[in-house]
Amino acid sequence: MISRIDQGELKRRVALAAVDAVVPSLGTGAIVGVGTGSTTNHFIDALAKLKDRFEAAVSSSIASAERLAAHGVRVIDLNDAETIAVYVDGADEVEPGGALIKGGGGAHTREKIVAAAAERFICIVDESKEVDTLGVFGVPVEVVPMARRSVAGRLRALGGEVRERAGFVTDNGNAVLDLHGLTVADPDALEAQVNNLAGVVENGIFAANRPDLVLVGTPEGVRELVP
Ligand code: 5RP
Repeated sequence: MISRIDQGELKRRVALAAVDAVVPSLGTGAIVGVGTGSTTNHFIDALAKLKDRFEAAVSSSIASAERLAAHGVRVIDLNDAETIAVYVDGADEVEPGGALIKGGGGAHTREKIVAAAAERFICIVDESKEVDTLGVFGVPVEVVPMARRSVAGRLRALGGEVRERAGFVTDNGNAVLDLHGLTVADPDALEAQVNNLAGVVENGIFAANRPDLVLVGTPEGVRELVP
């Protein structure tokens, strides 16, 4: 088990490695997609030093957009971006095949949208996020508020325990239910099954669209996992 301080340093180091990995994608007109969370915050801070080498960023959350803007990085709407050269984001769990659980910060809907729009998806994690099988973190599910109760019942029927994030509202104005107690043996199937429930906006399993590259921060250095 690594300490909090060690984990913060691993997040910083893997974020710096991600900046090195995106440099070949930069240039005139290049748009960079940016995720959300503490690991991504390190990425934003380092990427901002290269702000003269790309056109703009597309952000997956209001929080990241504000951080980028505070650094003087131009932030544009996804609808105004012709292409996104590369998208960089953290994760809550990553399994050996590269499927992820995201949404610890409740931003997974926009994260999935921007990741899907990007030509390249790079995921950055410290080694504590590596698991053999997804599920221990729980599966965040963004839900239209009027469907909280009905979706919670459907999720419970899958065999899990459902906890509502009390008082939390996503950037899209919705609620988040966390589905705990499931071993996600087939991430592709569960991602599709949960998204098929009426009232679900998006869930935090990233299996249909997996990252092209996962960078893992370890005390020995940054390891590459190519799913
Ligand atoms: C936010 C996310 C984050 O990427 C995920 O929670 C990891 O966060 P951190 O880098 O702070 O550990 O999915 O919705």
